[in-house]
Amino acid sequence: MLEIKNLHAGINGKEILKGINLTVNKGEVHAIMGPNGSGKSTLSSVLVGNPAFKVTEGEVIYQGKNLLELSPEDRSREGIFLSFQYPVEIPGVSMVNFMRAAVNEHHKYKGLPPVSATDFLKLMREKRSIVELDNKLAGRSVNEGFSGGEKKRNEIFQMAMLEPILAILDETDSGLDIDSLRIVATGVNKLRTPENATIVITHYQRLLDYIKPDVVHVLYNGRIIKTAGPELALELEKKGYDWLKTEAEE
Ligand SMILES: Nc1ncnc2c1ncn2[C@@H]1O[C@H](COP(=O)(O)OP(=O)(O)OP(=O)(O)O)[C@@H](O)[C@H]1O
Ligand SMILES: [Mg+2]
Repeated sequence: MLEIKNLHAGINGKEILKGINLTVNKGEVHAIMGPNGSGKSTLSSVLVGNPAFKVTEGEVIYQGKNLLELSPEDRSREGIFLSFQYPVEIPGVSMVNFMRAAVNEHHKYKGLPPVSATDFLKLMREKRSIVELDNKLAGRSVNEGFSGGEKKRNEIFQMAMLEPILAILDETDSGLDIDSLRIVATGVNKLRTPENATIVITHYQRLLDYIKPDVVHVLYNGRIIKTAGPELALELEKKGYDWLKTEAEE
């Protein structure tokens, strides 16, 4: 589904991604871990087409298409979803209108008619229950005044509404209390199908207790320096990253 080959990218002339290779097949969950500043959020920004970052080398094939040639809008319409590390507030835009516009955009792209008001509200209700998002929040402006945890939960609600093919979750667990962590993780698991894939960026093994990854990667200084099974996350929790650094520098 996703094949990243020798991807180099940077910002303001500074190289951040220094040759990323990563293959994600449908049905899989990949976890990306790595120290602060290693390039995890940059990789997700590049995949969704954030124009601030410039790709200097390499290629990304998504569902047989050259992803880097698609506009950010088309990447979303083609089923890529990013849950932001720092979700933005959109004052004055109600959740209902925002989500309705997003869902209808996707419908239009697929040649489907817009969703009716009744069907849309039914869909909202159904998806809200997946992350136990309070109805009061759904009635407010997007993320405005939401607590950190509410924003993260809202991200997964939006993901549930859009049913992405490739979901990238950038530190969705940070700032979540124990119950919210479980609810959000359960929501992500409920949205898993054999046809979609998820990339989970996290610092902590505990999220991976709930969302079981098939593969764990360590991103360090713009490169993936280790790839292994779920046991790698446990090892990192115990040992940190230093042992890998020496391995990578050898
Ligand atoms: N807009 C920017 N301007 C300058 N440097 C940037 C910009 N965005 C990111 N960087 C730099 O790129 C590097 C990688 O940042 P990135 O946010 O991808 O790290 P990360 O792995 O997501 O870290 P964290 O675990 O703290 O979220 C950092 O050194 C950061 O300072
Ligand atoms: Mg980050």
